[in-house]
Amino acid sequence: MNANLDRSSNVNHHYDAKANSSTLPSVTVIGLGSMGSKLARTFLHSGYVTTVWNRTPEKAAELVGLGASGATEIADAIAASPLLIICVLDYDAARHILEPMKEKLSGKVVVNLTTGTPEEARTMGAWMRNLGAEYLDGGIMAVPSLIATPHAVILYSGSMTAYENYKQVLDSLGTSHYLGSDPALAPLNDLALLSGMYGMFGGFIHAVALVGTEGVKAVDFTTTLLMPFLQAMMSTMPEMAKQIDSGDYSAKDASLAMQAAHDTIGEVSRVQGVSPETFTPIFELMKRRVEDGHGGDDFASVIELIRKRPSS
Ligand SMILES: NC(=O)c1ccc[n+]([C@@H]2O[C@H](COP(=O)([O-])OP(=O)(O)OC[C@H]3O[C@@H](n4cnc5c(N)ncnc54)[C@H](OP(=O)(O)O)[C@@H]3O)[C@@H](O)[C@H]2O)c1
Repeated sequence: MNANLDRSSNVNHHYDAKANSSTLPSVTVIGLGSMGSKLARTFLHSGYVTTVWNRTPEKAAELVGLGASGATEIADAIAASPLLIICVLDYDAARHILEPMKEKLSGKVVVNLTTGTPEEARTMGAWMRNLGAEYLDGGIMAVPSLIATPHAVILYSGSMTAYENYKQVLDSLGTSHYLGSDPALAPLNDLALLSGMYGMFGGFIHAVALVGTEGVKAVDFTTTLLMPFLQAMMSTMPEMAKQIDSGDYSAKDASLAMQAAHDTIGEVSRVQGVSPETFTPIFELMKRRVEDGHGGDDFASVIELIRKRPSS
């Protein structure tokens, strides 16, 4: 049984940021894997009355030791707080947990920090609205050890009322960014950020493999040369972003025709015995753009070969 049942179901549960802890809203965390456990611990440390539930109840023991209320039944966990944070493996698991509880969700604020697709988020948002709950979708751009630090960026989209009413609670987890009322925006931005990260990591492993063929140590090369170079290149991104927004790609410094004139990186990689397969796709796009008559453009114009414009 839950020792701290607060049967409030006021969806506009405002609270005073300067009030003492007895007036702070209570929070329920559903899902106590690596991430959910850290979220729950953070709420406890921040002084929120915290109820926890997990499919495998043993995982709640440590949190109960720290002061959380361990709910054996999911219904008790839901009844305990106006704010429900769910963080489980995937949306199927979230739906599996919440489906039998759908009559109990009216008036609740549900913040789903489970990783999923934009479509899953939209479907979940519509379902929650039909049940009378306010829904916020979230994307956690951090590992559990970063939670409760400013480096833990968490993206939110969905109900603005829910975000504004509970911003202080959510801010205890890291740096919050609200992206708009469409629940799909958080997972879309989450996946876009990760795709940027993997592009960078792909370049990193190729670069390190290349210098490694002549015995250069990865650590020395990375810290002394690669990171400062990439940081300098990163500073050119806002200008490229402006070109993408305006559609004017006129080259100022380095034309695509010049950059794609020779596949020197691919050829040298092959000679040195390194597979160029992380580099080849972007080079092929650059070449194609030149062949299409855009050799005088800057690199950013390559986006025209891959993007789909939103229908207006
Ligand atoms: N860990 C990270 O670094 C990180 C970073 C960003 C985002 N995320 C996202 O956060 C979410 C949770 O990640 P995690 O690292 O905490 O994963 P995890 O340690 O593998 O925990 C998974 C959680 O989901 C529960 N679960 C799985 N299938 C279930 C089902 N069918 N019914 C009920 N509960 C179920 C598990 O319950 P049991 O304990 O009973 O198995 C557990 O609580 C994921 O969507 C992940 O992508 C994680």
